[in-house]
Amino acid sequence: EENPAPARQSWSFYGPFGKFDRAQLQRGYQVYHEVCSNCHSMKLVAFRDLASSSGPAFSEDQVKALAATFKVKDGPNEAGDMFERPGRPSDYFPSPFPNPQAARAALGAAPPDMSVLAKARDIERGFPLFIVDAFTQYQEEGVDYIYALLNGYSKADNPNYNEYFPGHRIAMPPPLSDGVVDYTDGSPKTVPQYAKDVSAFLMWAAEPKLEARKSLGFAVIIYLVIFASLLYLVKKRIWAKVG
Ligand code: HEM
Repeated sequence: EENPAPARQSWSFYGPFGKFDRAQLQRGYQVYHEVCSNCHSMKLVAFRDLASSSGPAFSEDQVKALAATFKVKDGPNEAGDMFERPGRPSDYFPSPFPNPQAARAALGAAPPDMSVLAKARDIERGFPLFIVDAFTQYQEEGVDYIYALLNGYSKADNPNYNEYFPGHRIAMPPPLSDGVVDYTDGSPKTVPQYAKDVSAFLMWAAEPKLEARKSLGFAVIIYLVIFASLLYLVKKRIWAKVG
């Protein structure tokens, strides 16, 4: 059975002038922290990254406090033992499981690390459409897919059925339900809203330099347009006497 194509969402970071929505990233972090991080690691992202002004822009004190809510492995200490301590801003988001085997034993499949998940997933339609897909892929496919997946548990009697997961049988039970995360900014406490916010947060995690890339890219295009017109004028002048 085919997977339907995830619907395209309107994202604040879409297009050449796209930017992340700070408040949305902060809410998305809250969803990741309170729900997803119980199973998914994010080992390429450090707590201090959350202070980035082109990211969630938490204050340094907020970052210290939120890092301390995670337990991080450290050691060996003087006695030669490994130990756990509260996280510090320079630590990376840890895995809740000691190793993938333990996760597989507990859940039936290992939850993928979330660092680049939003970029790692795209929409696959198989032979022969993959030829077209190679030319028509857009940058938000991964986030659109994650959003659709989180909203895609369509059979109330089967928590492992997902409309958008390839093969439809997913080891992740529906992670979200209305009201599970207590937003303080008045945003709706609904599954679609949580899904939207956490997907945006995962896009930022996977591409923290998105804003810099887009603004540099725009400047480069302007530069090339000016440079190309200069080259054209120079060429006209050099060849003016010929023919
Ligand atoms: C897989 C997102 C919470 C367990 C996945 C995938 C995504 C995802 C995008 C990859 C699907 C694919 O391979 O195409 C999320 C988000 C969460 C969340 C955004 C929080 C809102 C959880 C929780 C658990 C969990 C709380 C554990 C109870 C798993 C497992 C897989 C998975 C076991 C592998 C599924 C399989 O390969 O069959 N998740 N997840 N996830 N997640 Fe989650």
